[in-house]
Amino acid sequence: MKAIEKTYRILVVEDNPGDFLLISDCLREQMIGVDISGATSFGELKELITDDGPFYDVVLLDITLPDQVGEPLIRETLQLFPYTPVIILTGYTDFEFSVRSLTLGVSDYLLKEEITPFVLYKSILYSVERKKITFDLETSEKRVRSFALQLNNAIEEERSRIAREIHDEFGQQLTGMKMGLSALEEMAGGNQEIRTVVHEIQTQVDEGIGALRQIANELRPAILDKLGLVAAIEWLLSDFEKKTGARGYLYVSNKARLKINDKNLSVNIFRICQEAITNVIKHAIATILQIFVRVKDSQLHINISDNGRGMPARDQHMPLSMGLLNMQERAALIGAELSIESAPGKGTIIEIKCNLYGDTNIDS
Ligand SMILES: Nc1ncnc2c1ncn2[C@@H]1O[C@H](COP(=O)(O)OP(=O)(O)OP(=O)(O)O)[C@@H](O)[C@H]1O
Ligand SMILES: [Mg+2]
Repeated sequence: MKAIEKTYRILVVEDNPGDFLLISDCLREQMIGVDISGATSFGELKELITDDGPFYDVVLLDITLPDQVGEPLIRETLQLFPYTPVIILTGYTDFEFSVRSLTLGVSDYLLKEEITPFVLYKSILYSVERKKITFDLETSEKRVRSFALQLNNAIEEERSRIAREIHDEFGQQLTGMKMGLSALEEMAGGNQEIRTVVHEIQTQVDEGIGALRQIANELRPAILDKLGLVAAIEWLLSDFEKKTGARGYLYVSNKARLKINDKNLSVNIFRICQEAITNVIKHAIATILQIFVRVKDSQLHINISDNGRGMPARDQHMPLSMGLLNMQERAALIGAELSIESAPGKGTIIEIKCNLYGDTNIDS
């Protein structure tokens, strides 16, 4: 096969001088003008990593160095070279270890006794290309996530604004109408016919005020901003009871500790719970809904379980259903773990686990 033209910079981390020579010869045979650097220990490898240090296309790593070996060596080297493919070279024939090292994130695993110039060249070429593709994918995923975050924030702000307008504008007008109707009732004196009509309109206005309050709350429950997540979940649960006639139970441990200061976090968790409960209303035909909220070791756990019809696995991946997908997206945005456990006839359990560290302080 024809030798390649690009000039590669390759770092060979190898403490055995004989093996280093062998690898260098293999590289030179297949890759014209290859630039080979060496390190003979993990300590030496770390010293090469400086802000203005050289860039390497590939790192070839022997996993038995004098000062570090095996899995810890692989993990630390991968941390030192997040953007460079790392290929393991070893005399080990331990297949399980080779598979595990691939799951740790190394690009390839080569047995020293099987290395030929072509095998090495092919592995380097594939590894470099794969790393490029993975890097592009990761970058585009980060962009999509950041876009989703901005979009979610914009939607939440807009919902808050509309909820405020509905409450302040229409709410005030309807309250004004109610006052006008009371005045009219007085003016009607003993005229029973007018008084009956006024009462009917008063009832309609009251219903209108109730409906507006419900719409505003569904857009953005004021209770979430004023009283916090647990109170907002209580409100969701009472809404569930009203709409289904089924029973809802909320168990909260250490309720006082659950005043989450991070707005972004509490809004996203609230929206996940809201979608989960809406799904129970829409699909589950449940008679009982239970929600557990607890904080343990600075981790918030929420468990939402219904005793309804459950869902087959395919329902979790329906292309036109956005609810479950949105829940997963929101969980990813706040770094939470979300799991869904469900089977036909066995109900559904949704679990959210989320760290309350850093900015996300909780008042105790
Ligand atoms: N608690 C539940 N019990 C039974 N089935 C459920 C439950 N939650 C979800 N499902 C099933 O999973 C499907 C997907 O849910 P998802 O929330 O993604 O979509 P949806 O509720 O149908 O639509 P939307 O996009 O409005 O949320 C539902 O159509 C339903 O069949
Ligand atoms: Mg849904």
